[in-house]
Amino acid sequence: MAESNTDTKSSNQMWGGRFASGPDAIMEEINASIGFDKKLFAQDIRGSVAHATMLAHQGIISSDDKDKIVHGLNTILSEIESGNFEFSRRLEDIHMNIEARLATLIGPAAGRLHTARSRNDQVALDFRLWVKEELQKTERMLTGLIAAFLDRAEEHAESVMPGFTHLQTAQPVTFGHHCMAYVEMFGRDRSRVRHAIEHLDESPIGAAALAGTGYPIDRHMTAKALGFREPTRNSIDTVSDRDFAIEFLSIAAIAGMHLSRLAEEIVIWSTPQFGFVRLSDAFSTGSSIMPQKKNPDAAELVRAKTGRINGSLVALLTIMKGLPLAYSKDMQEDKEQVFDAAESLELAIAAMTGMVRDMTVNTARMKAAAGSGFSTATDLADWLVREAGLPFRDAHHVTGRAVALAESKGCDLAELSLPDLQAIHSAITDKVYDVLTVEASVASRKSFGGTAPSEVRKQIAFWRARN
Ligand code: ARG
Repeated sequence: MAESNTDTKSSNQMWGGRFASGPDAIMEEINASIGFDKKLFAQDIRGSVAHATMLAHQGIISSDDKDKIVHGLNTILSEIESGNFEFSRRLEDIHMNIEARLATLIGPAAGRLHTARSRNDQVALDFRLWVKEELQKTERMLTGLIAAFLDRAEEHAESVMPGFTHLQTAQPVTFGHHCMAYVEMFGRDRSRVRHAIEHLDESPIGAAALAGTGYPIDRHMTAKALGFREPTRNSIDTVSDRDFAIEFLSIAAIAGMHLSRLAEEIVIWSTPQFGFVRLSDAFSTGSSIMPQKKNPDAAELVRAKTGRINGSLVALLTIMKGLPLAYSKDMQEDKEQVFDAAESLELAIAAMTGMVRDMTVNTARMKAAAGSGFSTATDLADWLVREAGLPFRDAHHVTGRAVALAESKGCDLAELSLPDLQAIHSAITDKVYDVLTVEASVASRKSFGGTAPSEVRKQIAFWRARN
């Protein structure tokens, strides 16, 4: 797809009526968006076909002209798809590139296509269609990631690992439960995506430049033809609104933050020091100098992509703030932010889905780590409350002394002898050892949403049914 830049001296053939000469080279460079908005060609053509069809149906153009226009647009679609279309920077953007080509192909009838519309509602339409499709794709990809986690959670509903707070061993949990935490996170992202699709499901075309039009158009007809629920209700808002793009970026930023936290955990878990997971060769790289190394590059790049996505969100918010109603050319800068964030988000979801499915989980390492760091201390305190009737605060204190003793002896709580424990509190019996293992600890946490394998399985069933 080459770009030509000829004939800069003549005035623009689309809007050049009151211009004596063409733009300065710098003007052309800063003004042109064809370099990136050519991505919208399919949406632009779809929108024009719907618009022309409606114009003919309403008797605004002849059905003969409509047929020529639709045929010409379809020819252009295949030219672009097969790489046989010459994009011109002089023609500024995708809308004018396509319209100029249409004029070459079908002659004067092409000039009737732009009746009752403006590039302002045209670009709002094209971009909305693009963002809608991207959101639908994001929804499918998140569903794939959620499915990967559900499978791993099922497989590891009983596998014990340390649960952390402050990245310090806190209480034993199951790896299945930890996986389900991500299902909740990505499930929220997916419902944000669904809401955003509902929000943007209104057709902008027919708002024209900003005030609507005097032609007897049927906006409900074009809305329906383009798969929108209904037309937008205020022509000024329609051409000045980019909330749908900002919503996409906000959702991408939140999902990116979730992906980055997952990436960070995978980076930590795959260190030899943790050894909780081993990444597949498909999702890691070696070092050119240190033969022993296996680096989690994909996870690190997912962590970094989040920075780009956040940057795009802040950029577009900043572009839009302070713009008076309705359209201003500033808004042309919306697209690159969204395209870049969409590409980063897609890559990040795809990479994490692959990693989650492929990684080998070292359950022995996880279990050993789960038992260290006095992770069942809370279970001892709870036992003292339940079996010996101590107030929780006293039980906490007694348990603290047991931990201190185990620490001084260099052993785990379960390795303290009964006389040692009884010296700390006389009510302790040998039954206490039942709760000091990590399996018993985990199995006891049956509260709704807790880590007990039985609870985790219930949540897996909930999500499988929810979809
Ligand atoms: N290329 C422009 C954009 O992306 C299209 C709309 C131009 N409208 C105008 N009044 N100059 O925003």
